[in-house]
Amino acid sequence: MTRIVILTGAGISAESGLGTFRDKDGLWTKYDLEEVATPQGFRRNPALVHDFYNARRANCAAARPNAAHVALARLEAAMPDDVLIVTQNVDDLHRRAGSRNVLQMHGALMRATCHACRHTWPAPERMEPGDRCPACNKTATRPDVVWFGEVPYHLDEIGKALETASIFAAIGTSGQVWPAAGFAAAARQNGAHCVELNLEPSDATADFHDCRTGPATELVPHWVDELLAS
Ligand code: APR
Repeated sequence: MTRIVILTGAGISAESGLGTFRDKDGLWTKYDLEEVATPQGFRRNPALVHDFYNARRANCAAARPNAAHVALARLEAAMPDDVLIVTQNVDDLHRRAGSRNVLQMHGALMRATCHACRHTWPAPERMEPGDRCPACNKTATRPDVVWFGEVPYHLDEIGKALETASIFAAIGTSGQVWPAAGFAAAARQNGAHCVELNLEPSDATADFHDCRTGPATELVPHWVDELLAS
């Protein structure tokens, strides 16, 4: 039974150079999310959307996991059946840091999918409109990323984990996007001790028992050391 559920957001990958969405120079200050992160935007201009994700895929491949990702992998290694990471991030830095029990609720940059047959496969470096699905050969391919207005992945499994968690942590997320923004309140309702590790208080800060502000690369290793010592 998973005792420690950890929600991560773009802030945990910020110090790996991947940037965030809503900070002062975040992605949504440079791109119109309606154009690059909705099914309607993709239908209107698939080339623009592929370019957006091709650039993010290249940044992700060039990035390295940071001390926060590594600390979470260390925690899972010490308590293999007790730790679940639920990440809103589409980068693969948790997996590359060594975490294995990871649910990517908003999909994965490094995976492609076919919206005709639902087949998924490792995304090529560059995806283009007109790429054919390796399974059904239709030109219906897209990044396997959950866009606004689409249903996130793994919600049933996440809901069950929030029922039994004794510790819930949120790291590097502004608490502005649902359903992830409601996870702390749900876990707290079920008796979990809730910890927020974030550069600044988030929109969900009131749902937490313990709120620590600072960079993830400082807060997370310290928090993991505390957990392993207790
Ligand atoms: N260490 C810890 N926290 C940080 C750091 C850092 N070095 N840098 C930034 N943060 C915090 C910011 O203070 C902010 O609260 O990370 C949070 C990033 O918030 P967002 O940019 O809103 O990212 P996130 O919460 O992951 O967004 C959720 O929105 O656009 C959609 O699908 C996208 O998954 C994303 C979702």
